[in-house]
Amino acid sequence: MKIAIIGTGKMATGLGRAWSKAGHNVMFGSRDPAARQDVAREVGGVSQVVTHDQAMSGAEVVVLTTPYIDVEPFAREHADRLRGKVVVDITNPFDSVPAGGVSGPEVTAKAIGQGARVVAAFKTNFAGVLDQPVDASGVQRDVFYCGDDVVAKEIVRRLIDVTGFRPVDCGALKAARALDPMVPLMIEMDRRLGGKGLGRRSHWKFVTP
Ligand SMILES: NC(=O)c1ccc[n+]([C@@H]2O[C@H](COP(=O)([O-])OP(=O)(O)OC[C@H]3O[C@@H](n4cnc5c(N)ncnc54)[C@H](OP(=O)(O)O)[C@@H]3O)[C@@H](O)[C@H]2O)c1
Repeated sequence: MKIAIIGTGKMATGLGRAWSKAGHNVMFGSRDPAARQDVAREVGGVSQVVTHDQAMSGAEVVVLTTPYIDVEPFAREHADRLRGKVVVDITNPFDSVPAGGVSGPEVTAKAIGQGARVVAAFKTNFAGVLDQPVDASGVQRDVFYCGDDVVAKEIVRRLIDVTGFRPVDCGALKAARALDPMVPLMIEMDRRLGGKGLGRRSHWKFVTP
């Protein structure tokens, strides 16, 4: 599968590495591809760092890994290209939570418009442990995901599964309203309870005894 990852930062690199290892064709879209070629070298496989348009061209899945604040303008500008594709929104609004009680991914879907197939995923997973799907105690980490398009969700479920994490289906896209505030809480709890020197290795786990 051809996956476009918009952004070349910590989450982009971690996800790109996992999907490249699983045999997917990963194209990173950067504002400055020439300056970010090190990312493709680091990730390996057939990955490349190119422009946003080049990355999205022919991609079945587009993963948005930019700062949250840049997502809506990006989605609006590239709506024609994004419409119909599976769009994975991993971004977190923090202090920029949208008005009206809606979630970031719902704003993304609205910006793309009719035909948007947005799935929220990886919002509650720290970048530093994307290569550790099982924690030091042997517990498999969860990836919470949600969306309104059943087929898009199944594609994302499989993309989570190949990383070694456990996909946890949280329902419709509006479930992202609960995922958004879990992230600042997670950072605060990790700071207080995560253990000295561990630094953002903690994770949310949904347990069904
Ligand atoms: N870090 C985490 O543990 C974590 C966990 C879950 C979710 N998230 C979410 O994932 C997103 C990325 O986090 P990160 O830690 O990977 O951030 P990061 O390391 O700062 O990377 C963000 C990337 O986005 C691109 N970018 C920056 N400003 C942009 C703009 N104005 N327009 C378009 N692209 C822009 C940059 O790539 P180019 O310079 O190549 O364009 C940059 O490398 C955030 O929304 C964050 O909330 C982060």
